[in-house]
Amino acid sequence: MSHRNIILIGPMGSGKSTIGNIIARRLHREFEDSDHFIEERTGVDIARIFDVEGEQGFRDRESNALKELLGANGRVIATGGGSILREENRQLLKQKGYIIFLDTSVNQQMHRLRRDKKRPLLQTDNPRERLEALLAERRPIYLDLADLAVKTDKRVARRLATDIIDRLPESLK
Ligand code: S3P
Repeated sequence: MSHRNIILIGPMGSGKSTIGNIIARRLHREFEDSDHFIEERTGVDIARIFDVEGEQGFRDRESNALKELLGANGRVIATGGGSILREENRQLLKQKGYIIFLDTSVNQQMHRLRRDKKRPLLQTDNPRERLEALLAERRPIYLDLADLAVKTDKRVARRLATDIIDRLPESLK
């Protein structure tokens, strides 16, 4: 059986890894997380990559990781929030999978990321302002790419995963 990939896109703290994991388990698919894959490959965390190589260095690694992860079929893949920024990545995501956008409010992101120290883009005096700016820039791109857009607010992960699976095309289940 060769299913298309299921790809989760959306901002930091939208629950891509949590929801992706649940969906993968329920559909008996392999789960992959792009940030985690990059960390395993390099042996250092994302913050360190930003420090040493800058954001562009990280984005190059991210594009390579997406190519590799999307080289196979049948997976559930959680992408990093900025993976939709490059045209080459957007083409690849569209070609290689069914794209689900987890549409999240900045309030929910703030709540989920309140103790986060790992995300270099949030190491600023005003993380809320940063999240608002990133969402304003990226939300139209997420929406444009999405085969399915799901509001995530005030829903527990398991319910949300059930809802998403219900709405998937039969060919993916
Ligand atoms: C980023 C999101 C992060 C990670 C990096 C940059 C972004 O992934 O790739 O810190 O540009 O939004 P998550 O969306 O998994 O937090």
